[in-house]
Amino acid sequence: MLILGIESSCDETAAAVLADGRDLLSNVIDSQIDIHGKYGGVVPEIASRKHIENIYPVVQEALTRANVTLDDLDGLAVTQGPGLVGSLLVGLSFTKALSLVKKIPYVGVDHMAGHLLSVLLDNKPPAFPPTFPYIALVASGGHSSLFFVEDTVTFRLLGRSRDDAAGEAFDKVAKLLKLGYPGGPIISRTADNGDPEAIAFPRAWLGPESLDFSFSGLKTAVANHVHREEKQGRSLNIPDICASFQEAVVDVLTEKTIRAGRQSKVKNLVLAGGVAANLRLRERMQQRGKEEGFNVLMPPVHFCTDNAAMIALAGFHHFEAAATTTYDMDVYSRSRF
Ligand code: KG4
Ligand code: ZN
Repeated sequence: MLILGIESSCDETAAAVLADGRDLLSNVIDSQIDIHGKYGGVVPEIASRKHIENIYPVVQEALTRANVTLDDLDGLAVTQGPGLVGSLLVGLSFTKALSLVKKIPYVGVDHMAGHLLSVLLDNKPPAFPPTFPYIALVASGGHSSLFFVEDTVTFRLLGRSRDDAAGEAFDKVAKLLKLGYPGGPIISRTADNGDPEAIAFPRAWLGPESLDFSFSGLKTAVANHVHREEKQGRSLNIPDICASFQEAVVDVLTEKTIRAGRQSKVKNLVLAGGVAANLRLRERMQQRGKEEGFNVLMPPVHFCTDNAAMIALAGFHHFEAAATTTYDMDVYSRSRF
């Protein structure tokens, strides 16, 4: 079964071709980072316009690289939400048109479902074949959530951020320190030269059993530190701030994922979402998982950030579960979990 996946929920226009739910034939991503970078964040109106320009060439490129034509496809899968409405509409409208003209069935996929299954794109042991159930942390620009993943289509939300998402905190702190956008990779690189214990930034545990997250207090603590140092005429040690901030985020993400594993009595912990590309988080998760007796699985870095391969994979499992095509489907901006 050959599926074309399409993703346009934020600032990446992406398309991928996946065979039989495991062989990735192509994975094309056109990022708009350079365009939004100068505004310090994604500008929704510009993102929608860029998706309109990019979607046809990106899909064409995905088909060419996979060496297939539209006539070879058995199904289409598109991100339905959550995300920026204008951006999502470009992907969904394009997919509906393709589906109607070429008579190929399509399914709408939740972006979170894509991230939750992304670990299975690495189609060899230990990630594949999948061992359900698992606990998955999705830490991205829009979400910090913990899920109990029962199988390829059944996900239960266990905890989520009460304010900023982890990636959003990285982006906002980078903006505060005038480091550029997106903040995650820049902070991570800068932190390499800093001391993670230099500044004691707060960790919001929210109680001994809570699986929710909160990062806005941490962001404020970084801002307060910066203002205090500046007021006292001291120059900022940017690498130390980055390393100490990153350590605070990584601590909370890691320990809450372990906590969720213990509470749910599962063996497998999975990391996903753009923040899962963070090397310190990957290292700490492996180390703590081992100490606590869990298997820790994470997708290769290029499957952590937004891509259409994960959408094609989630779509494949929707088709397997007998999902049907309806043309009155609409996009949604907020998470349905
Ligand atoms: O999953 P993703 O590509 O898009 C959303 O669904 O939001 O995640 C993007 C987020 C951004 O906030 C970015 O700063 C963060 O992931 N990110 C990272 C790293 N790479 C990307 N955060 C920390 N460390 C990284 N290496
Ligand atoms: Zn994402």
